[in-house]
Amino acid sequence: MSEPFDAVDVIRTKRDGGAVPEAKLRWLVDAYTRGYVADAQMSAFTMAVLLNGMERDEIRVLTDAMIASGERMSFDGLGKVTADKHSTGGVGDKITLPLAPLVAAYGVAVPQLSGRGLGHTGGTLDKLESIPGWRAALSNDEMLAQLRDVGAVVCAAGSGLAPADKKLYALRDVTGTVEAIPLIASSIMSKKIAEGTASLVLDVKFGSGAFMKDIDRARELARTMVELGTDSGVATTALLTDMTTPLGLAIGNANEVRESVEVLAGGGPSDVVELTLALAREMLRAAGVDEDPADALADGRAMDAWRRMIRAQDGDPDAALPTARETHVVRAERDGYVTTMDAFGVGIAAWRLGAGRARAEDPVVHAAGIDLAVKPGARVRAGDAILTMSADDPALFDRGLEALAGAIEIGDTAPESAPIVRERITA
Ligand code: URA
Repeated sequence: MSEPFDAVDVIRTKRDGGAVPEAKLRWLVDAYTRGYVADAQMSAFTMAVLLNGMERDEIRVLTDAMIASGERMSFDGLGKVTADKHSTGGVGDKITLPLAPLVAAYGVAVPQLSGRGLGHTGGTLDKLESIPGWRAALSNDEMLAQLRDVGAVVCAAGSGLAPADKKLYALRDVTGTVEAIPLIASSIMSKKIAEGTASLVLDVKFGSGAFMKDIDRARELARTMVELGTDSGVATTALLTDMTTPLGLAIGNANEVRESVEVLAGGGPSDVVELTLALAREMLRAAGVDEDPADALADGRAMDAWRRMIRAQDGDPDAALPTARETHVVRAERDGYVTTMDAFGVGIAAWRLGAGRARAEDPVVHAAGIDLAVKPGARVRAGDAILTMSADDPALFDRGLEALAGAIEIGDTAPESAPIVRERITA
């Protein structure tokens, strides 16, 4: 079959700063997925996008072409409104765990297709797999049944959604083109739109523990994704949230489940509660529910939904969670106020203890991680516990300590406290 366009012509257009016409862009994505356009050509194209950007309409077409490369799910027959959330990822980010059952407690269906962690940010599926018996892989029919009966489902995204993105993301990873905002936005949103949700709230993080270190780039990414969702008929809003300090006190897997259960029981660290409620308010508003999500945390409805959600996937919500064989406490070297607790350093330390994986095929150690005893602003005395590292192999503590070097600072004056949610971005 002869091809209607020429990859070199498309690459030249983007190289010279032009906008690629719709038909050519759709063809490029399709021909790359089929293997007609070579990796070398697609990497030249992605580098041209990184250097020259894309117009709003090009990003919409690119996203739509990636969606068209795979299956599209539909929740039309469900009889419930759907609301979804996506986080760009951070250290101690367990928010999906309390959030999905909390929103489901108001009759909204929450389909959370999630991934496993790679690098210093954890994966939601890894965290839930600390619960004995819990199973991440569900068929589409099982997922729909659970959405109907329980309302919330967190499961592994099937390989059928946006396969073009999968191929393109692997290529970007080895060609220095991950950071292009049009490519990140279309990658994330193609999967979310293909998933078929009616509304979406994005938690776009900035700071040392986030994918975007800088708030201006995070804002640009958030705006691009909100525009894309809106242009594709998905009601989309974004919150820009601070990831300079880990979220909550637990960083790992089993300990993050424990902390999430505390939040569902009406307690838990204030920053985790604040962000869970902020995101729940966005999701309920998008679903047309005019209620305060704090009520379902206080009266046990969110906890009931959690227990049903875990049981529906063969997990035992009452089973003991794994604990590590060894612990090591890091203590304050002087009196003062904790001024800095760098999310990246703490995330790398937890990862080195076994909480994360270096290669996609590695297992994680569910019991490994870090539990903070204090957060920035706390007054400490020399010798007070700052954090506890947990691992099965005590030889890993030195590697954890290396990653923590310089990550925690104690000074003479208390740092100013700032809200975790900095901005709300709408279409
Ligand atoms: N996450 C994704 O799914 N895609 C990107 O490009 C970056 C982060």
